[in-house]
Parts: sequence; C-alpha cells; structure tokens
Amino acid sequence: MGQEKDYSRYFVAPDLKAAKKRSKDGVRVIRFEDIPEPMRDAGRGKKYLIVTYGCQMNVHDSETMAGILEQMGYEPAAGEEDADVILLNTCAIRENAEDKVFGELGRLKQRKLEKPGLILGVCGCMSQEEVVVNRILRSYPYVDLIFGTHNIHRLPHLLMNALFSKEMVVEVWSKEGDVVENLPKVRRDGLKAWVNIMYGCDKFCTYCIVPYTRGKERSRRPEDVLAEIRDLARKGYKEITLLGQNVNAYGKDFTDRDYTFADLMDDVRKIGIPRVRFTTSHPRDFDDRLIEVLAKRGNLVEHIHLPVQSGNSQILKLMARKYTREHYLELVRKIKEAIPDVVLTTDIIVGFPGETEEQFEDTLSLVREVEFDSAFTFIYSPREGTPAAKMQDDVPMEVKKERLDRLNRLLAEIGRRKNEALRGQVVEVLVEGESKKDPNVLSGRTRTNKLVHFRGPKHLIGQFVKIRIDDPQTWTLRGTLVGEASATGAGA
Ligand code: SAH
Ligand code: SF4
Ligand code: F3S
Repeated sequence: MGQEKDYSRYFVAPDLKAAKKRSKDGVRVIRFEDIPEPMRDAGRGKKYLIVTYGCQMNVHDSETMAGILEQMGYEPAAGEEDADVILLNTCAIRENAEDKVFGELGRLKQRKLEKPGLILGVCGCMSQEEVVVNRILRSYPYVDLIFGTHNIHRLPHLLMNALFSKEMVVEVWSKEGDVVENLPKVRRDGLKAWVNIMYGCDKFCTYCIVPYTRGKERSRRPEDVLAEIRDLARKGYKEITLLGQNVNAYGKDFTDRDYTFADLMDDVRKIGIPRVRFTTSHPRDFDDRLIEVLAKRGNLVEHIHLPVQSGNSQILKLMARKYTREHYLELVRKIKEAIPDVVLTTDIIVGFPGETEEQFEDTLSLVREVEFDSAFTFIYSPREGTPAAKMQDDVPMEVKKERLDRLNRLLAEIGRRKNEALRGQVVEVLVEGESKKDPNVLSGRTRTNKLVHFRGPKHLIGQFVKIRIDDPQTWTLRGTLVGEASATGAGA
C-alpha cells in the first residue's frame, strides 16, 4: 500500500522490547511553550470533544489536552454532533476496555461520513500498542490522527498536520524521557484537582501493560509539584489527589537529591489545602517513614488505596509483585497501629493463570482479615506482550466469574458492616453537588472517600459540613445535616 510510505514521516513504531530496556539517560525537564502563532487561532469558532476511558491518569491527561485545545481557540462541544475534533483517550488495561474503543470507532465512521471535516483522533494507552496502531491503520482508515502518551504536548503540531494532511497522522514515541512542565489544564470542577507527581511505571507486574504504555518512572521535581499545589490552594481548591502508578517510587529517579514520597507528603502537609489524597501506592515501597508522616494527619486523609492483587504468595510471585501475603499483612498491621481509624481499599485480580481454588480462598481470607471498606475487582485479562500472556490462561471463564462473584459478595458484606459502624456518628463531608438521582438531595464525601447523601440548601455546595449518619447502606451513607464546618484536618 502506497500510503504507508507517508505514515513513516510521523510513525515511530511502538516497540515493547525496546520499552523494557529502560534507558539510563537522565530525565529532561522541558517547558511547554506558548502555542506558535499559526496554530494559536486554528481552533477559533470550532469545538472539541474528548472521550476518556481508563484511570485517573487518563482523566488528568484529558484535562491537559483540553487546556492545549482551548489555547488554540477551540471551545468545548456540547455533544458529538457539534464537535469539529473528537479525541478518544483510550485505556489498554483489559481486553474489554479495548473492545469498547473499537466499537466506538466503528460507530463514529457514520459521523465522519456526515461531516468529512471532522478530525477523529485516538490517543492514550492503546495508541502505545503496535498491534492497536496496525489494526487502526488497517480497519479504521478514516481515523485522522493517532498519538501516544508521550506526545500529548505535541498536540498543536499533530492537529495542524491532521488538518492539512490527507493521510492518517501517526506519532507514537516508544521512548520516553521528558517531564513536560507548564502544561495548560482545564479543571472543570473547582473543588477537587488531580496533580501528577510522577509518570510511568518500572514495576513490570507480569500481567500489566502499563509499564509499556506509560514508559519508565519519571518524577516531577518537588518544587514544580509544590508550586502547582500552592496555586490550587490559592484558587480555592479543597482537595487534591496526587497521581502516579506507583507513588511510593517517587523521587527514586532523582540523581541530584535525596527526596522521597514521604518527604513530599510532609511538605504538602504544610500547604493550606484541606484534603490531600494519593493514588496508587504499591505495597512493596510503602516504608515506615511514610506511615509516620501519614499518621500526622492534618490534611493527609486517613484513607489508603493499597492494591494487593492476590492473597496467595505463590500467585503474588507469579505476578512479580515482589511481596508476600505475610509482608502485606504486616504492612497493614503497621498502618492500622499508626492510624487506627484508617480506611483501606484495594484492587484484586481473580483467575490469574494457574490460580487454584485454595489459592483463591487465600485471597478471600486476606480480605476477611484486612477488612477492606471496598475494592476494585477484576477478572484476569491477558495482555499481548506481557510475561503472563505466555503463561497458560487455564482457569475457565465460568470459574473466574464465580470467583469474582464470591469475592464481591464478601466485600459487600464487609462494606455493609463497616458502614453500619458509622451509624449515629458525625462525619465531615465536602459537599460536591446535587445527588445524581434526586436534585433535592446533596452529595459529598468523607475524608475516607465515602459518598454521603443528605438534604440541605444548595449554597452548601463547595463547603465542608457536619453530617450525622443515620442510614448507612452497603456502598453509600445517608445522613442529616447537623452543622457547617471548617475543614477540621482530623477525624472522619
Ligand atoms: N499502578 C496500580 C494499578 C494500575 S492498573 C497499582 O499497581 O496499584 C489498575 C488495576 O487494574 C490493577 O491494580 C489490577 O488490579 C488491574 N489490572 C491490571 N492489569 C490487569 C489485567 N491484565 N487483567 C486484569 N486486571 C488487571
Ligand atoms: Fe501495572 Fe504493577 Fe505498575 Fe501497577 S505497579 S501499573 S499493576 S506494573
Ligand atoms: Fe488504562 Fe493506561 Fe490508566 S492502560 S488504567 S489508562 S495508565
């Protein structure tokens, strides 16, 4: 096909093998500069729509892309019909995540036919996979633009290429290395903000595609992170969530200083932002110093998301999680000792290759022992190119489903019991808005991230209030307003 010659101008093929040989080159910090003149007005009078799949990292990347597009003059579209640019920010974590995107791409063909000037782009983690790029080139030729997770700051150039080129524009860098500062962001909320502290992942859990799609671990400099948080505090944000695939590895890549995640949390603690969360932490690097800092509380909330994946040491070994069941339980014991009212949540995979009934029961018993308040639970999904994909995926689908169901029932039982214990207690809630189901009811979250519904006047949105819990449900709490509050910086 003659067309492929033209793609090569833009196309650096994603290469899993190359991604695994992490370059030892230092991390460069580069600044996103103003959009060059010819591109600054490219979006004037036009509208954009970004559809986001996957984790918070993607949600935040979409805020960055929105920021860049708005600097180019684009405005947000109300829906698909009035969009001139549609970007699908994709997730590759499980097969069903990818299937959704391919389904959506198929459906969007009709839109392209109706509006040939529409620019249709695919970005995010799926674009980092060579098989996906090839499939789009082959089966969805009406896509205008594919770009990877390391190319977001190049969006103005890529869009200009797509606008003026007749061929599909593909730019996917498999080699990362840069941390880009000064990226514009559109944060629609005004109350809660995501803040990247690091990019990439070097853990290479055997089932996981993320180390390939997001590249090696790169930490943002603390001065840049802290400046961003101070700015958010000045703008009146009430809550931030620090983001990284493995926040406990923060700072390990610095060559010019000794500064860890615990140091960062200790510094963030001193900033006047009422609530600070973080996600996600890997049990392996969760050290005593971090527990000590978190136990100081204040704006550091007593909720820790600590993915365990499995309760069986042999499966954990096959997953290359590099901790045992005993190590995890010991870590939980230390955390509970330092922060007795801590709420722990987790991620669990069932049906990993070779998982026996007994090994799965170890997961159930660990869940019972830790008493997680809630968990994200998944059926194992083989990802091409990962080490686990070469293991025999031998647990039948009915067994995987049945295990997921038993696990979820246990989690619901524990969740219900945990929430029941809050009956009659008064908790601090940050009011986020009207409840989705009933506009006469307001919703907000506790410091431990539990959703609370109550009746109250709308002017409370954006404020901290005191709510007495009188009707706990399995995953949500209902209560009565008993007073307004300034963020206490302690307690539930
Ligand atoms: N960095 C985070 C996890 C990010 S992915 C951490 O390590 O804690 C979110 C969750 O998706 C993982 O915790 C895992 O439970 C699940 N997951 C990842 N790869 C998967 C796969 N191939 N099949 C099923 N679930 C998977
Ligand atoms: Fe994936 Fe493991 Fe990295 Fe989490 S720590 S992103 S599960 S490789
Ligand atoms: Fe998905 Fe990429 Fe996040 S694979 S879970 S969007 S890092």
